[in-house]
Amino acid sequence: MENLVLSEFKLGIIAGGQLGKMLSLAASTWNIKTYILDPDEDCPAVGCCNHFVKGDFLDFDTVYRFGKMVDMITFELENVNIEALKQLKAEGLKISPDPEILELIKDKGRQKEFYSHHEIPTAPFKLFNNKGAIMEAINDGNVSFPFVQKLRTGGYDGKGVEVIKSFEDFTNLMNGPSLIEDKVNIQKELSIIVARNAKGDIQCFPAVEMEFNGTENLVERLICPANIDDSSSIQCMNMAKKIIQELNMVGLLAVEMFVTDNNEIIINEIAPRPHNSGHHTIESVITSQFEQLLRAIFNLSLGSTNLKIPAVMINLLGSPGYQGKVKYEGLTECMAIEGVKIHLYGKKITKPYRKMGHVTIISQSIKDAIIKSEIVKQKLKVIA
Ligand SMILES: Nc1ncnc2c1ncn2[C@@H]1O[C@H](COP(=O)(O)OP(=O)(O)OP(=O)(O)O)[C@@H](O)[C@H]1O
Ligand SMILES: [Mg+2]
Repeated sequence: MENLVLSEFKLGIIAGGQLGKMLSLAASTWNIKTYILDPDEDCPAVGCCNHFVKGDFLDFDTVYRFGKMVDMITFELENVNIEALKQLKAEGLKISPDPEILELIKDKGRQKEFYSHHEIPTAPFKLFNNKGAIMEAINDGNVSFPFVQKLRTGGYDGKGVEVIKSFEDFTNLMNGPSLIEDKVNIQKELSIIVARNAKGDIQCFPAVEMEFNGTENLVERLICPANIDDSSSIQCMNMAKKIIQELNMVGLLAVEMFVTDNNEIIINEIAPRPHNSGHHTIESVITSQFEQLLRAIFNLSLGSTNLKIPAVMINLLGSPGYQGKVKYEGLTECMAIEGVKIHLYGKKITKPYRKMGHVTIISQSIKDAIIKSEIVKQKLKVIA
């Protein structure tokens, strides 16, 4: 730790979205120098890092050159040029989490095979190379309705996921390598963030419950702690711990789970980085997810994940019908409500449903926090 903060150590972060911004802020609390790579010079992290590098994180040369400027690389998104990370690792640069793990997780097909191989419960699935192969499987009776199709790579925020209920939904079938899995009757969606350092210490954050916006597939509200019993909570934590251990991963892993309508807990997907479902940890947990990621990748002792106070988090999304230079309505009013913590990401342009910020509402009573979140949702608007 002393070496880290008193030397010229440079932490490279790919990229500079809101997660990169909040990670840079956590690093700056310890005076760790951060370098951010992002194609957008107006990205959220630009004002919060020590050095900004403009460039495309999918381009081999750009990522490679960025790696040569820093002492370690971590990332806040999956869509990175992995070949460049592998080359940098081969030349001795520390990349954490490991690029091989990122490569596995980035491909939802390989992710599902990993769960099967390690007997981790997940919805039954099949892999396909293209749309035609899925149609054939349906005609042959090997696939039945309803099912969920997911592109193996490139999906995010529900884009790249289609629910196919009947032949009528066929126009929505996506082309390209994909997996299809049984449609799960979901009772609840949960997320657990787990961290592991190189010593092998593991810590889980409390389970959070995610409520989704039906039309846009974005998280509408997140509640921590989730309304589940102790044994379910322990079961979720054990599953998250098993996954990070089997991956032999160092860093932070967000584990999305479903509680099915017959009370089974199964894994939906994982992400090897800070996650939207962990924003509340900044105010409501002893250690934030961002500090925990730093502790993990620098092999420091992991911080306590005990809850200080319950929390509800809502995303601040661009209102539908507005596109252009952002304006906020109701900020002052919402800020006056006790426990309301507003985070603005600093994106200059709003678009319908774009994540422009989030609001965490902390309260000793979840019920009170939910009521306040409804008030904030009504009053706080992102317009142009
Ligand atoms: N097998 C399934 N059965 C029913 N609903 C599903 C299934 N898989 C996914 N969903 C729904 O679709 C949402 C998005 O799926 P998933 O998390 O796999 O995609 P994503 O685009 O990577 O998500 P994000 O980036 O928002 O985390 C899930 O949160 C869930 O609501
Ligand atoms: Mg998801």
